[in-house]
Amino acid sequence: MIDTSRFTTFLPAKMRSQVDAYFEALDVIMHMKDPRVLSALGPSGLRGLVLHRGKQGVPTEIPASHRAHFDWTYPSDQPEMAELYRRAKEGQWDGDSLPWKTDVDPLNPEMPILPEHFIALDKLEEYGVRLNAKERRGLLASMVTWMLSQFLHGEQGALFAAAQVTEAVQFFDGKLYGATQVMDEGRHVEVFNRYLDTKLNKMYQINDNLFVIIDSLMSDGRWDMKFLGMQIMVEGLALGAFGTLHRQTKEPLLKNLLKMVIQDEARHVHYGVCALREHFKHHITERERKEREDWAFEVALLMRNRFMAYEVYEEWFEGRITRQQWRDGVYASPGMAEFRQVMFSRLVPNLREIGLLTPRVMKRYEEVGLMQYFGGLSADKLTAEQLLAA
Ligand SMILES: [Fe+2]
Ligand SMILES: [Fe+2]
Repeated sequence: MIDTSRFTTFLPAKMRSQVDAYFEALDVIMHMKDPRVLSALGPSGLRGLVLHRGKQGVPTEIPASHRAHFDWTYPSDQPEMAELYRRAKEGQWDGDSLPWKTDVDPLNPEMPILPEHFIALDKLEEYGVRLNAKERRGLLASMVTWMLSQFLHGEQGALFAAAQVTEAVQFFDGKLYGATQVMDEGRHVEVFNRYLDTKLNKMYQINDNLFVIIDSLMSDGRWDMKFLGMQIMVEGLALGAFGTLHRQTKEPLLKNLLKMVIQDEARHVHYGVCALREHFKHHITERERKEREDWAFEVALLMRNRFMAYEVYEEWFEGRITRQQWRDGVYASPGMAEFRQVMFSRLVPNLREIGLLTPRVMKRYEEVGLMQYFGGLSADKLTAEQLLAA
């Protein structure tokens, strides 16, 4: 991506950031070589990256249209999904049962929500940013609040997507299972919102890149694209992110909350793999499969390159360092590196398992360093215990 700071130095800080953000949006859109992928993701890119629809402070209306699939014979048609349904019923829990009385102070050095090495402070120092101990804790508190805010926004997307795919999926066992996922996602919205509201007393707006992904899969009428977008890509990201934070945090309420959420999410990704494996291998044309391969790659890149916590940058560093320097800092952060690593070690094996990592696209994954995750276990082979331990 172009470093815009070289030709925007004469502009005020706010405008410099805006130019950099527009170039970044352009970079995302120009990168999409497949016209079908561009037409599927392009309008969402415009709404999210250029118009910032997720940040207008008013409810966002996203048009959704898909076919609801009814079956009046109620067949037992998918034993793996029936088993997931049974496990999901057993695994239901009440958000109220978490230890909400825990005293949480994001600035307390005795019980840090994130370890200090989560952000590459030395890299920021190279660019002239010096923070004292209190400010460092404040920055970490902002980062964790930002991450949890994005989890919450992602969970709202997951709640609606789970409701949509429950209508659209053709397996009846999948519909029953889907009903449990709608409940799970509702509970996730509840607990993340409660944590932000009562413990951190702050929430960040939705990140534009996350908005693009949610907008795109909400408005796509094809059920399998919704599955691919939500159950494989966004849920894969969520599992990686929740797992990283679960391992790194020393705050007991958050650790407990994430453990419960991860156990639910493990079922969700398993369901996505189960539903799409059969469909992609046998029921779509070569051309349709290529489009899905390319779409998945673009979304993977969107997630890898662009989850940059710009909202935290704008609050802390706009005018002090450039957006490019902030990106360098985020890339160099060990905590964020682990986040990306865990996220793709979850996602790539699932893409392989559903048949979207064909030799045609492997080269592109190789070029961006993602093929190292090819041999890992897919979600249908991983237990919640393994996910928590990894
Ligand atoms: Fe969730
Ligand atoms: Fe989920």
